[in-house]
Amino acid sequence: MLLMILADAGVHHYDFVLKEENFTRLCSTKSMLVLKEENFTRLCSTKSMLVVNGSFPGPTIRVHRGDTVYVNVHNHGNYGVTIHWHGVKQPRNPWSDGPVYITQCPIQPGSNFTYEVIFSEEEGTVWWHAHSNWTRNSVHGAIVIYPAQGTTFPYLQPDGEEITILGDWFKSDLNLAVEELLDSGGNSALDPDAFTINGQPGDLFICSKETTHHWLVDYGKTYLLRVVNVAMNALLFFAIAEHNLTIVGTDGAYIKPVVTSYIMIGPGQTMDILVTTNQSLGQYYMAARYFTSDTLEYSSHNYPKGNATAILQYRGNYTLTSPSFPTTLPFYTDYNAGLSFMKQFRSLASQDHPVDVPQNISTRMFVTTSMNENVYNLHKYLAASLNNVTWIDPTISVLEAYYRNISGFYTTDFPDVPPEFFDFLADSLGLDVTQCLRGTKVKIVDYNEEVEIVFQSTNVFNSSQNHPMHLHGYSVYVVGLGEGIFNPDEDPKGYNLVDPPYVNTATVPKTGWIAVRFRANNPGVWLFHCHIERHYTVGMNTVIITKNGGTPETSMQDPPPYMPSCGSSLFSY
Ligand code: C2O
Ligand code: CU
Repeated sequence: MLLMILADAGVHHYDFVLKEENFTRLCSTKSMLVLKEENFTRLCSTKSMLVVNGSFPGPTIRVHRGDTVYVNVHNHGNYGVTIHWHGVKQPRNPWSDGPVYITQCPIQPGSNFTYEVIFSEEEGTVWWHAHSNWTRNSVHGAIVIYPAQGTTFPYLQPDGEEITILGDWFKSDLNLAVEELLDSGGNSALDPDAFTINGQPGDLFICSKETTHHWLVDYGKTYLLRVVNVAMNALLFFAIAEHNLTIVGTDGAYIKPVVTSYIMIGPGQTMDILVTTNQSLGQYYMAARYFTSDTLEYSSHNYPKGNATAILQYRGNYTLTSPSFPTTLPFYTDYNAGLSFMKQFRSLASQDHPVDVPQNISTRMFVTTSMNENVYNLHKYLAASLNNVTWIDPTISVLEAYYRNISGFYTTDFPDVPPEFFDFLADSLGLDVTQCLRGTKVKIVDYNEEVEIVFQSTNVFNSSQNHPMHLHGYSVYVVGLGEGIFNPDEDPKGYNLVDPPYVNTATVPKTGWIAVRFRANNPGVWLFHCHIERHYTVGMNTVIITKNGGTPETSMQDPPPYMPSCGSSLFSY
């Protein structure tokens, strides 16, 4: 049986050429008011940004379950970049995982690196993106994983499919803007000028009508919509006017169908959604809007309010009228709409798609997620921490230091519990809990350990908010999710150990906790971070190192013939 699957597994090759290109979106609103008669192009907002193969969003990778893909990334840009295959577990192969200074150093301009992307149990939609600086804003694309050859979807074969990438547009040179933000302490807003659907802000933004994405459909069909949230910092609500959504998968795994009139999707997450075209011939807005849980934004009403739109358009003979807007799209600050949506997911857990929920936990961690303000060099800096530790990148990759046994680049003392059990969600938390430790602390687990991590949100710095936590190398079962402070005696009684959702990105709710479990059966060096880039940039991450299991099949692969050089590192061309 195993041999047959191996024999059928396909190998594909892609070339990704990274290059700066000009793109135009939105316009300068000031000029629009003042210079109505001006030449249109002068008013438009054009910028140069790094993209793959000239396209934004980037190319879609399509594979079958079990395939392997080699992607040769040629960097023709002017700064170093790495690429990550988000949601691909890469068994035994952290070498091609991509996060900068975790598993590799940047691919320098003028050089290239071939990633070996090994697909194993994923089925559905995941994605790829740059994993250095904030370059993923323009360097990203979808990955579609069809069922293994000779097998089918666990639902009726759809009549067609559509990829919907929810992203954001910044008029500024984003990496530059981030540098300035960090220099100034990091604690001011860096909001996008628009959210986007398939790279376009859509109809409701000035100068964007002509380029709005249209999805042409036939009446009476069922389509598979593959939604990816690639936005830098935003959880998003999304809905289609007058059409129900049936979610059948998330993060490359099947779920029991959820019928809903809107979704809430965090950055990093993907959802596979069936849409039946059963409404009168016409045009319908597909709309995405920001979902904020950040206390400061919330109370100041200072958050991006634009609605990104695309248009679902029926084919046929009828008079076009303006599209209707989804009335079911929750309001920006509707916390309950976000939370209740998150609670509906359950794994399919069928005979063909079974679950393997760890039942005998051998490593237990309780990890607080906090926003902090640190003072050093007499300046205040925004920070974010896990168990009061804010991550500092080493100068060579953790993977290289681990594999070569070079000391001095990281320590193995990431704490299993926070230094203090205070009233995590209290209204005003003083400065004594807002100073965090700076360090490069990793957690080491033995091969095949059954790990449980409870993430507890805190209101330190009066900044509790949702944190979509993403683990590389694994998906995790979300066995529990609750509001308030986790109660270790009571809350585990309510765990779902039968069919919990299996995800690579699990959101810790602003005023609550989640419990996740995974079996440490993937040896390697794996980043665990908040997928809100603003939080990751200021240290909301750690690294889990899974040791080798003692046999070749349970050990990390050998490194590829060469890895991008870290300057001082031993790997070199
Ligand atoms: Cu979507 Cu660490 O990545
Ligand atoms: Cu976060």
